[in-house]
Amino acid sequence: MRIGVDYYPEQWDRSLWEKDVAMMKDAGVKVVRMGEFAWSRLEPQEGKYDFSWLDEIIGLFEKAGIEVFLGAPTNTPPLWLYEKYPEVIQVGKDGSPVSIGIRGHRCLNSPVYRGFCKKIIKKMVSRYKDWTSVIGYQIDNELEANHCCCPVCQQEFRKFIREKYKNIDEVNKAYGNSVWSGEYSDFSQIGPPFGPHQTWLNPSYMLDFNRYASKSTVEYVEFQRKLIHDMDSKALITTNNWLCENMPDFYDMFEKLDFVSYDNYPATLLPEDKESLYSHAFHLDLMRGIKEKNFWIMEQLSGPLGGWAPMSQTLQPGMLKGYSLQAIAHGADTVVHFRWRTAVSGAEMFWHGLIDQSNVPGRRFEEFQELCRTVDEWRELEGSTPESQVAIIYGSDQEYAFKIQPQVEGMHYFTQLKAYHDAFASLGIGVDIVDARSDLSKYKVVVAPTLFVTDREMVDKLDAYAKRGGRLVLTNRSGVKDDNNRCIMSPLPSVFADMAGVHVEEYDAIGKRWQKLHISQAAWLLQDKRMWAERQGDELACQLWCDILESDGAEVLARYGENFYEGRAAITANQYGAGEVYYVGTVMNRCGMVSLMSEIIRKAGISHIENLPFGVEHTVRRKGKDRWHFLFNNTSSNQEFEMRWRLPAGMRNNYDEAICLLPFEMKMWKEED
Ligand code: GLA
Ligand code: ZN
Repeated sequence: MRIGVDYYPEQWDRSLWEKDVAMMKDAGVKVVRMGEFAWSRLEPQEGKYDFSWLDEIIGLFEKAGIEVFLGAPTNTPPLWLYEKYPEVIQVGKDGSPVSIGIRGHRCLNSPVYRGFCKKIIKKMVSRYKDWTSVIGYQIDNELEANHCCCPVCQQEFRKFIREKYKNIDEVNKAYGNSVWSGEYSDFSQIGPPFGPHQTWLNPSYMLDFNRYASKSTVEYVEFQRKLIHDMDSKALITTNNWLCENMPDFYDMFEKLDFVSYDNYPATLLPEDKESLYSHAFHLDLMRGIKEKNFWIMEQLSGPLGGWAPMSQTLQPGMLKGYSLQAIAHGADTVVHFRWRTAVSGAEMFWHGLIDQSNVPGRRFEEFQELCRTVDEWRELEGSTPESQVAIIYGSDQEYAFKIQPQVEGMHYFTQLKAYHDAFASLGIGVDIVDARSDLSKYKVVVAPTLFVTDREMVDKLDAYAKRGGRLVLTNRSGVKDDNNRCIMSPLPSVFADMAGVHVEEYDAIGKRWQKLHISQAAWLLQDKRMWAERQGDELACQLWCDILESDGAEVLARYGENFYEGRAAITANQYGAGEVYYVGTVMNRCGMVSLMSEIIRKAGISHIENLPFGVEHTVRRKGKDRWHFLFNNTSSNQEFEMRWRLPAGMRNNYDEAICLLPFEMKMWKEED
């Protein structure tokens, strides 16, 4: 459990270094990340290296007892390299090289670039492998799936397709290329998706391109990992993950890395609209789920954001500390704050760090010092991990396929996941977000939103989970496609229809207009709905998408309240083997989501706090028999309430308590036996 900072010695006058290190030590900083953009300082000319300045600053940290995480500086090749070897420059979808002088504009597959990476990484790792303070390496910086269209990447994509399908007829069959005379007669006709009209390209081909682009980045990560590991087998190796436009498959990318690290910039402006989804915790749970173990934050919000965009609101008192502790409550063991001091030059001079450009430590720095003290006091949590009885399934194929073919305006794959996560968060229930390949048997409830693209293995896995007694929640836009991203010729949810005991007769992409939804079973949810409505003044409603359902044996839980399908089924539950499969054919408002999830967890026998105020979050970390509870106030007002638990029959309730939380305050307590 420790706090760190991101530091850029190459951006500061040498005369500041000693004082910076002393202040860090004094504040309680335990680790710094550096170097990830410093290539031009480390290799100012081809083959002429200068690591003396890095030796010096690492030496200062070593003396201060602060650990160092080094970034392989491969995200920013120096300009001389681009000038001398222009073939390393990435090519965009318009077929021309991207403009250089910013960052990240190198082709990950370029053999020339890889050669230079190899040399600089070798220099770095061989130099520092025996330094005790240097504990590990960050590969590159915030990698994306490789969408480069240069000649080398064209070849790589072709190779990927050839290896996957072996002969060209198989490709045509898989993609259904008889449409619009899209049939290939030779592999040479296959290349990356050039041009402005990407949405007119065949979605099956586009999904394969996205899979290739991910694999290409994963291979680049493996190239660096192996290089580092072969020289220093003790070094910890990771890369800093983020949520970007073209995300690689996280599970593949981190498979061989030691842990996940994430760049965490929660919004400083809290949503006012009560339907806006609360998502910081969602990101943290997604990151922890990648390796199903604790993780690092490699960059953590420290000041107002801006620079290449207009500035955000500043951090309200309590936010800096609160968001950092929130990450810990969700399984981060090291939180590295971005950045020590705000830059005074370059595009990010208004992306604020802990200390402002003036170099006068202020309010945020004081809060940071307080954070370091608190985390120091939390030492006993070392080795504990978050506990969840509910899982939500994420898959990059769904993310790609949904982006390739948006189904209705406003409905995004991530938003679908967030809506479920938000409902559980509102109930104070910890959630793991995991890959469908992971072991689901340990969860009492599994929510698998929008399984748009399907394959046999996934379907069998979910089938077995439900049959053996699990509670599985399926949603609209599931079972639509096969593994080649082509529509399945069977009533929806096709491959899931047996499990769900229901089929979709017709669907209506209604868009953002809210529509009424009625509870059809008197027994269903009434108590929770009333409770939720009291708090929110809400009625059940749905939007975006309506599957008009016909039950094949499933119980109807809710019906549409308007439109020509008024009275038709919208949500169902089906007894399946020893378990139960829910089908949610629409996208509910928060009131509906919380009510339904609350009903499901009640049936599953999961205890929870039944009166969490909106925006207050509850999580648990566990080590052996010890359990620590966290209550985080993610709102800008005080929250006072008498905590009321809903426990399965027979369980004792020994921690009811009057709670008073200041804005962004985190309360942590250890459960009594
Ligand atoms: C990312 C990058 C950092 C920095 C910050 C702020 O997280 O990794 O280098 O650019 O964003 O923009
Ligand atoms: Zn390329």
